[in-house]
Amino acid sequence: MRLLFSLSVLLFLPSLLHAQQPVSDDELRASIQKALPLVEETSKVALRERACYTCHHGGVTTMAIEAARLRGFEVDRQNVLEQMERAQLNLTRAIRRVGVGGRTPGQADGIGWQLMTLAAGDWPADEATHLAVEHLVQYDHESDHWAWAGRPRPPTVASPFTTTWAVVRGVLDYTTPDTKLGVAVRVTEARDWLIRTPSRDTEESVSKLRTLKLVEADERAIRDEAKKLLEIQQDDGGWAQLPGQESDAYATSTVLIALLESEQLKRDDVAIQAGLRFLLGSQLEDGSWHVKKRAPFVQPHFETSFPHGKDQFISAVATAWSVYAMAQLLPSVADHDDEAALAAMKPENAKKSEIEFTPEQIAFFTEKVEPILQRRCYRCHTTEKEPKGDLALNSREEILIGGYGGPGAVPGRPDESMIFKALNAPPDSLVPQMPPRGGKLPQEEMELIKKWIEMDLPHRK
Ligand code: HEC
Ligand code: HEC
Repeated sequence: MRLLFSLSVLLFLPSLLHAQQPVSDDELRASIQKALPLVEETSKVALRERACYTCHHGGVTTMAIEAARLRGFEVDRQNVLEQMERAQLNLTRAIRRVGVGGRTPGQADGIGWQLMTLAAGDWPADEATHLAVEHLVQYDHESDHWAWAGRPRPPTVASPFTTTWAVVRGVLDYTTPDTKLGVAVRVTEARDWLIRTPSRDTEESVSKLRTLKLVEADERAIRDEAKKLLEIQQDDGGWAQLPGQESDAYATSTVLIALLESEQLKRDDVAIQAGLRFLLGSQLEDGSWHVKKRAPFVQPHFETSFPHGKDQFISAVATAWSVYAMAQLLPSVADHDDEAALAAMKPENAKKSEIEFTPEQIAFFTEKVEPILQRRCYRCHTTEKEPKGDLALNSREEILIGGYGGPGAVPGRPDESMIFKALNAPPDSLVPQMPPRGGKLPQEEMELIKKWIEMDLPHRK
């Protein structure tokens, strides 16, 4: 109704006729080009500032950057690779800790997002992706869909529809012959749940529509959900996250993606054109879109170089989804990378894991370093029992996988290594002071740990 009304207004007001001009490729390109550097920079800064994988700065941004790259935009591929490595490391760690099918709150969400991130950059299937799919298939198997847990972070982490979308997309991208049957069963259950369960706001409707398409629901269910979204398009061409709110770039870009992805509308349909006009018209001079934050406090704020202060997390996500939405409408010009191209980009990392130590280096560890770890750390940080901070120190691999705060150490670089930072941490630092309760290590032990990290962490295993 609203849309019909706004269309008749457009038809009869000559001053608004310009709004009816179809959006050109040049306009889309110019808008993407303005936003892309901000998206790339914010993802790099967040990767540097925090050790965890994030949906906002690791997930949506990577999807947007890759979508732009495939349309011929120049991007920093090394950054994309590092984002994927972070996602892969987090997957490995999550699965390692809980085991296949185990359950920790909120995990389905993170794992689904990590798989989507890897798929966006063509990361080849590996053991971690395989175990992740197995995990998601068995995760909470008494439920017919996947739900978020913990504290809500609306709009993205506050709806079972969005969690289910992330999981379904992740498992479909990385299904292997071994997981095929399990995936098919869960996906069918999820399809029935989707069809049975009404969406309650724009986010839910978007995620429901995107998932219905992925699970190949029947055309009528898909059409009905698209219709629901069209009915709430606002007079300015945009969409709002919740009824009564103003249109914003988060809601509008994700609705456009859902309508196009589900093949319910095409670029020249009026609703899409009006949505694109809304996006183009609301992009700020600096290339960003500003969206107001709805999420309550969950994580301490930090600066990611993106404008809009306290609103910068959701604004970065909205800007990235806008880039993604517009990129979908441009022809692909670049190819997806194959495995060889990816492998060629990561020689440094391959070197790190294939490292061989001399007997002298290993003796240095067993004679000088291991006794310190045994005496001062192993009580709380081995895989024998649930390690504190999720960090185990009893093998090199575990140290590299790391804990809640990221990798335990960066080989060769003590100052960037969490273990070393923890030993030197001032009382109120981000890395906890270790050993706990002021048990500072004597200087000579500190020097030995430093030297061990400089030697690239020789270990028994
Ligand atoms: C499952 C997806 C997901 C993962 C994984 C995730 N986040 Fe977030 N995070 C969100 C969402 C959604 C918001 C809300 C966005 C908003 O509106 O600001 C958010 C908000 C934030 C904010 C903004 C807080 C503020 O008020 O300024 C910070 C900081 C943050 N996350 C840090 C992190 C860190 C650090 C990690 C790794 C431990 C992480 N996130 C992992 C989804 C995620
Ligand atoms: C008495 C138990 C205990 C001992 C001993 C101990 N830790 Fe911890 N460690 C913890 C706890 C508890 C945490 C989580 C605390 C937090 O996150 O604030 C932790 C967290 C950490 C972290 C951060 C992990 C992450 O990913 O966030 C590092 C690094 C760390 N410890 C290193 C060490 C080292 C190195 C030693 C030995 C010199 C050591 N710890 C000894 C209990 C211990």
